[in-house]
Amino acid sequence: MSEALSAASGSEAITTNVVELEKQYLLQNYGRHPIILHRGDGPYMWDVDGKRYLDFIAGIGVNALGQNHPRIVAAITEQAARLIHTSNLFYNEYQGPLAKKIAEVSGLQRTFFTNSGTESTEGSLKMIKAHGNAIHPEKYEIVSLENSFHGRSLGALSITGQPKYRKDFEPLIPGVKFVPADDIAALEAAVNERTAGICIEWIQGEGGVLPLSPAFCQRARELADQYDALLCFDEIQCGVGRTGTYFSYQLVDPPILPDIMTAAKPIACGVPLGILSANERAAKSIKPGMHGSTFGGNALAARVALEFFDVLEGLLPQITRVGDYFRARLRELATRYSFITNVRGYGLMVGAELSIPGKEIVNKAMAGGLLLNCTHDTVLRFLPPYIITEEHVDEAIAVLDGVFKTV
Ligand SMILES: Cc1ncc(COP(=O)(O)O)c(C=O)c1O
Repeated sequence: MSEALSAASGSEAITTNVVELEKQYLLQNYGRHPIILHRGDGPYMWDVDGKRYLDFIAGIGVNALGQNHPRIVAAITEQAARLIHTSNLFYNEYQGPLAKKIAEVSGLQRTFFTNSGTESTEGSLKMIKAHGNAIHPEKYEIVSLENSFHGRSLGALSITGQPKYRKDFEPLIPGVKFVPADDIAALEAAVNERTAGICIEWIQGEGGVLPLSPAFCQRARELADQYDALLCFDEIQCGVGRTGTYFSYQLVDPPILPDIMTAAKPIACGVPLGILSANERAAKSIKPGMHGSTFGGNALAARVALEFFDVLEGLLPQITRVGDYFRARLRELATRYSFITNVRGYGLMVGAELSIPGKEIVNKAMAGGLLLNCTHDTVLRFLPPYIITEEHVDEAIAVLDGVFKTV
């Protein structure tokens, strides 16, 4: 424990210390909830006052196996004691087997390891640019979707279709066209010989848990083929088991395969790791020396991800089953509370659209012991750990019911 924390006596003093230190020393970019989380077990977390919360946001879709999962703890402990990091100057034992596993479950042959979703997006943009450049200097345009979110770096913001994230940083990378989600005619009008890539979130997460139609994704696939552009699916929030399939593009049968896929959040259960996976056609545009990362895929992160994939396989049916149950229970609530206008999502990526702002509901639910999140002002977003059962859903619904009565 830090000097500042250990000097404090009692949880009130800890809270004051933590909040004051952050006010003085942190960049003031986050609006935090007034909760200091201290420990967790499965889908539950406890704050410094010992108050228990059921966690239905899981570190924004990261803590896939909840907290303190025995296999993740064992893998981290054993690996940390032996070897954490080597840089990519050397091999470690885990990148190869992990990339093989990703190839088997994703259908994409080659992987590059990153440390976050944003860094995966950056890699995808470089791949798209290099692909276009190799064909023609004027083939640099990228088509992305309105209302999308791909990360906070300048490159990622360039393809993020939400003005509120972009406005303070413009001009961004030129040549990006935004089309409305699911508007096939607009997509057809935007894609041409100059298009190097098309970037799509199969389910828009920050945008309000909005699934795209398979017909739109299929048309994007056809247009990418027709114009020799790369199709990139951002699976950072909706991928790696979240929807009850390994990746959301596998929700349709047969799956619509992208050329590039980015993923991150749950892949190493809270240890920072992201991936950029690609088929041979896309991967060949990155040659030795063109891209790299010091931390990406270090021994600790890659080992944990391998362990996670091993557990995930057996969890996928549960994710689908419990997710369906959760949506059904939310729809029951919607019959009693008319301000719930829509319930949607796949697996354990769940959104409840409201006709009123969600912020107060989120605050009240947290006071009632349920952690969730509101996106797009009016969408309650739930990204619980994959290990939850129907009983946890019942517990969450009871809290929500109590909160909704007060609205
Ligand atoms: C779809 C999507 N893409 C990219 C990102 C950026 O990921 P990160 O915050 O890990 O950089 C996010 C984060 O929420 C996301 O949801």
